Amino acid sequence: MKLPRKFFEPLAIGAPTPLREPPVKVERMIHFIPPHNDKVRARAGELAQQVDVLLGNLEDAVPLDSKEAARQGFIAMAKAHEFGTTGLWVRINALNSPWMLDDVMQIVGEVGTKLDVIMLPKVEGAWDIHYLDQLLAQLEARHHIEKPILIHAILETAEGVKNVDSIAAASPRMHGMSLGPADLAASRGMKTTRVGGGHPDYKVLADSAEANAPRQSFQQDLWHYTIARMVDACMANGIKAFYGPFGDFSDPQACEAQFRNAFLMGCVGAWSLHPSQVGIAKQVFSPDPAEVAFAKRILEAMPDGSGAVMIDGKMQDDATWKQARVIVDLARQVSKKDPDFAKIYNI
Ligand code: GLV
Ligand code: MG
Repeated sequence: MKLPRKFFEPLAIGAPTPLREPPVKVERMIHFIPPHNDKVRARAGELAQQVDVLLGNLEDAVPLDSKEAARQGFIAMAKAHEFGTTGLWVRINALNSPWMLDDVMQIVGEVGTKLDVIMLPKVEGAWDIHYLDQLLAQLEARHHIEKPILIHAILETAEGVKNVDSIAAASPRMHGMSLGPADLAASRGMKTTRVGGGHPDYKVLADSAEANAPRQSFQQDLWHYTIARMVDACMANGIKAFYGPFGDFSDPQACEAQFRNAFLMGCVGAWSLHPSQVGIAKQVFSPDPAEVAFAKRILEAMPDGSGAVMIDGKMQDDATWKQARVIVDLARQVSKKDPDFAKIYNI
């Protein structure tokens, strides 16, 4: 464990000083694009206007013979566009792959000043973060990059979940974490073939009053435990938690339900793998206008957050005041980013 005194020191001479707090940014959806696809890449400028984060995916779903093309496509795309307040991220290949080192060396070398976050897949423990952290510091120094490039870990192995607390605390470069339900299911030996979402067989059966009477069953959330652990690890370390992919593009309702569960549990965004999921994420991860209006009433009724008041028959105290702050602060951030929501929230 590094000494607290050394935690915020740059890891290479000439590298920028690590940030004390991750930048305040609205990141309701991390929109994945395949950078080796010329048609999609050509639309990157337009896409960047519609999403909070644009991510070039170099890892899974990219065919092996397109790995280099995806990397070069990402570099070309980053050079060709200005992204404004939209985050520019890349998901590199895993640490044990033959592509990872060139992904990092070439991308940071060519477009490191434009890159906000590197998403690192299949993180198993703090040691994975330490390795990338050190490498990035050396490259930042070499290429005179002044803004630290942040690391976002995908939580998608059983070992990673076991070590989630130390991953979240591994470096001031940590931006946050996403749940990767597909790889995690495989790593854990779960008996599913889905990319996220629920499963009809994961349920509890209600008791029945009489023998052989039909019994109700209730589907449960397969991801509840992991999301809860991830949110606690992230929030305790001042970084952000995200739900990852939802693979059934034909089921927007289930996608919305999965995103909403994650939002209610503390996640700030999710991945959008298909354009139809951008709007879902925007809706779900922007706080509900009625909740914002009620939260505003709590803050107005308790200007300094102390004591207790009743609003519409509901008790409010220091703890609900803090919850109201979370919602109103998020609504403020969303309003700055998104004029449509600014009008709705009116703050
Ligand atoms: C994402 O990478 C996942 O495996 O779910
Ligand atoms: Mg994965």
